[in-house]
Amino acid sequence: MSLTVVANRVPIRRTDDGWKASVGGLTTALLPVLEQQGGVWVGMGEDAELPDRQPYPQDDPDFLVRRVPLSEEELENYYYGMANRVLWPVSHYLIQHLELKNEFIDTYRSVNERFAQAVLEESPDDPGEIIWIQDYHLMLAPRHIREERPDATIGHFWHIPWPAMEVFRILPWSRELLRGMLGCDLIGFHVQEYVDNFIESAEVLLGAEVTDDTVTYDGHTTRVEAHPIGIDVDRFRRMSATDEVKEKAAKLRDRLGTQNIVIGIDRLDYTKGILSRLTAFERFLEQNPEYHGKVSFYQIATPSRTKVESYQQLKREVDEAVGRINGQFARDNWVPVNYRYRTYTQFELCAFYRAADAALITPLRDGMNVVTQEFITATQNGALILSELTGAAYLLPEAIQVNPYDQDGLAGAIKRALEMPDEERRRRLTSLKTSVDELDVHRWAGRFLDSFTPPA
Ligand code: G6P
Repeated sequence: MSLTVVANRVPIRRTDDGWKASVGGLTTALLPVLEQQGGVWVGMGEDAELPDRQPYPQDDPDFLVRRVPLSEEELENYYYGMANRVLWPVSHYLIQHLELKNEFIDTYRSVNERFAQAVLEESPDDPGEIIWIQDYHLMLAPRHIREERPDATIGHFWHIPWPAMEVFRILPWSRELLRGMLGCDLIGFHVQEYVDNFIESAEVLLGAEVTDDTVTYDGHTTRVEAHPIGIDVDRFRRMSATDEVKEKAAKLRDRLGTQNIVIGIDRLDYTKGILSRLTAFERFLEQNPEYHGKVSFYQIATPSRTKVESYQQLKREVDEAVGRINGQFARDNWVPVNYRYRTYTQFELCAFYRAADAALITPLRDGMNVVTQEFITATQNGALILSELTGAAYLLPEAIQVNPYDQDGLAGAIKRALEMPDEERRRRLTSLKTSVDELDVHRWAGRFLDSFTPPA
């Protein structure tokens, strides 16, 4: 068997030392499989200078990177438009950010067709070949591939939430998008809730025939399963145990100079609940004056999708909220909210995870949230406050779970995390670490690929 991975982004990036694998979870999970078995990775080409076909690694190639070149206008409509202004907000139940424009879906259709064409050109037409498509950027590609290659083995993993049928059907193109996905043999989601939502969408909107975990439509049957994703546990464990990370963590604690540190780490995205988290921290300070000067909140927000107006607006609102809180509460050397709008390496993040007494992970909606798992792996004695509206909440019952829209609840959870008895903290963390070990990303890829051939 060889593997054809199809994803919006290619898994390699140019550095000063030549081409390197990117550090994301998906790349970490799938590169070892491609290295072992060979294959192709098809992704978008944003830069006309780069070759369409690039064997990687250059000196002794294991697999081929195939780019689908996109013009600026295509990138605007397919990626910034359909993916980021339509499918992203609707899947996260944040439809105030939804922008429906015909040019978005038109370009999405043609770009998906071009991805499918690239797959047909590069992927061997062998019975053992698996074509594995990733995420919401590529909903229509499976059907195109199926039409040309009826016997192909095609899978899709959806990395974000699948919304309730009533919300998904808001999209004028909901049926077409579902038909595209149902070109697959297997579709994976993180948790059963999203599986159920997808199956209901297919049943109600397309009249598809449904059993427990299959959907049959237009003569083809698709299995739909939950396969929760994890992180590279070993890598995070090793990084966070290095002397350098321990020193960085100690320095951070010294620099902040407070007894307690609470962290938040996210892409700057309106789904992550950063604003309501800041307001909750403000409320916590109002309600608990005894903590003034004793607790620092450290929020890291990584720049993301900066061309989209909603993201620019959010940046302004976060800047304003941080200014307001510090303006009101800071005194002497104490700065209650430390805010950084920049990208950090995973290594640097480990120092933040290690320095923190508690992590405040409160998305308004999140498919899984892997920062949670990174924190659990890296921390020695931290407490975790986790939004119940994440996929991770289903898998990590030992977290302090909160409704991210409930500001008083969040403020109370901060106090509870900081005052949690050591014994309880240890007990919860041990159980959380066991759950995260089981989710490991290499096992995730293995489980999904094994699932193409279910036991007889
Ligand atoms: C989510 C999506 C990924 C995406 C990532 C970063 O996790 O599931 O497919 O790559 O966000 O977003 P970006 O738009 O920068 O690729």
